[in-house]
Amino acid sequence: MLQNNQILLAKGEKEIHLLLSKANRHGVITGATGTGKTVTLKVLAESFSDAGVPVFLADIKGDLSGMCKKGEMNDNIQGRLEKMGITDFEFKNFPTHFFDVFGKEGHPVRTTVSEMGPLLIGRLLELNDAQQGVLSIVFRVADDNGWLLEDLKDLRALVRYVGDHASEYSTEYGNIAKASIGVIQRALLQLEDDGGETFFGQPALDFNDWLQVDHNGKGYINILECVELFKRPMLYSTFMLWMLSELYENLPEVGDLEKPKIVFFFDEAHLLFKDAPKSLVSKVEQIAKLIRSKGVGVYFISQSPADIPDSVLSQLQNRIQHALHAYTPAEMKAVNVAASSFRENPNFDTKEAISDLGTGEALVSCLDEKGVPCIVERALILPPQSQMGLLDSERRQQEIEYSDLYGKYEDEVDNESAYEMIQKVEEEAEIAEAEAEAAAQKAKEKKKAAKKTTTFERAATNAASTFTRETGKELLNAALGRKSTSRKTPLEKAATTALSTLTGSVGKTLTRGLFDILKR
Ligand SMILES: Nc1ncnc2c1ncn2[C@@H]1O[C@H](COP(=O)(O)OP(=O)(O)OP(=O)(O)O)[C@@H](O)[C@H]1O
Ligand SMILES: [Mg+2]
Repeated sequence: MLQNNQILLAKGEKEIHLLLSKANRHGVITGATGTGKTVTLKVLAESFSDAGVPVFLADIKGDLSGMCKKGEMNDNIQGRLEKMGITDFEFKNFPTHFFDVFGKEGHPVRTTVSEMGPLLIGRLLELNDAQQGVLSIVFRVADDNGWLLEDLKDLRALVRYVGDHASEYSTEYGNIAKASIGVIQRALLQLEDDGGETFFGQPALDFNDWLQVDHNGKGYINILECVELFKRPMLYSTFMLWMLSELYENLPEVGDLEKPKIVFFFDEAHLLFKDAPKSLVSKVEQIAKLIRSKGVGVYFISQSPADIPDSVLSQLQNRIQHALHAYTPAEMKAVNVAASSFRENPNFDTKEAISDLGTGEALVSCLDEKGVPCIVERALILPPQSQMGLLDSERRQQEIEYSDLYGKYEDEVDNESAYEMIQKVEEEAEIAEAEAEAAAQKAKEKKKAAKKTTTFERAATNAASTFTRETGKELLNAALGRKSTSRKTPLEKAATTALSTLTGSVGKTLTRGLFDILKR
């Protein structure tokens, strides 16, 4: 609940505030199942919205959708408010935009293959290092030529094309093993079967839509429906990672602001780190470190703090710990990790308190004005002001259809991109080959017909057959924008012009950022 322009999050011995000016120092909400993590996330998201800060959150169980509706009093909430001594509590609804990768429960969210980049696509395809290397070459070929990979159809076409011309490309970019091409092709088919196809294409998400504030100055709560997406954990975690990196790459440096530009909640964050290679963990750590000066606060939600690597956990400075069990050695270890991340309160034992907390109760430590973590407090979290639980599907569809974003993303478009360009190049190459063959044939017939062969005529025939061999190669060079040692044939020139006029080409070398995603 927003109070005096600060987030009143919880109350125990004293009121606990999360300072808006320190919200970009990130946070973490942990606790066992059913202890109140989602409600805490909701309370925070509502207060950010009230403070004019847009929020992005992933709704894994569908229980965040009620935020567009006013909450209602019940015995649980009444009792909690009385216990906390809060008298100015009011129920309200919040401006909400629904998104859904599959386009059913919200506005479709898409990106292009080019924008997501080789690193995250490689993770989606679960490639090993060698295969990842080949995929990076495929992207290099596309980037160097300014060919846009919009959807999986484009990527499939380019992978096949690079495979077909592996020997030529290997000289320039490094070894391209046919076996790796095969693995990538199979993994792409699997990704399509898993529904990945709907996620890639146009119109791609415009990030400014997630930074919106409504006419009353309240930040929009952007809810990404993840009930379906979450069934494919790799797709879910890669998607969230892509979101984070997009925010990182595309927002300007702003330093520390009075309040963040956007707050990003990453639920079930353990999935991001499960079986993640060190390189990925260190990139997440880097993003967490750097994104804060772009005005972005990132909040990880997970069952145990032990799920999150230390290097990342130490970046998450506003901490909310709900109850944890401490029966098994693994659970005890998690309690120790959790307890050790707090500044001790002399009034209670942190470790004991963690396994003793009730539902909707937590150990909380936020940063103070100076950026120093406060001593840990045991406190009850405020109830949410909006509706708890699911939104009925009729109301949800109304929210989507009456939204100002309705129509912007609903219909997918298939632009001319790499797939069409490769088709064109191959068609041109075929025509060139046929014409060269015809020319050679003609020269041969001429030779036969001539009774006497002059030295000059012999030279001409030789030239024609050289033309046959070389034209295919030259055309490929032209198509790839490579320099050719010989002069351009008219046909070659035509192919180059055809390529440069195709709209699927961006016509410039593309640049990639920290996560290999495209910089705009
Ligand atoms: N701050 C709170 N105010 C009022 N009720 C709460 C609060 N926190 C938790 N509850 C009650 O506890 C229930 C479970 O909370 P919640 O769904 O947030 O748990 P969770 O930790 O997210 O569980 P899971 O891990 O299964 O997602 C809520 O439906 C609500 O009834
Ligand atoms: Mg939950």
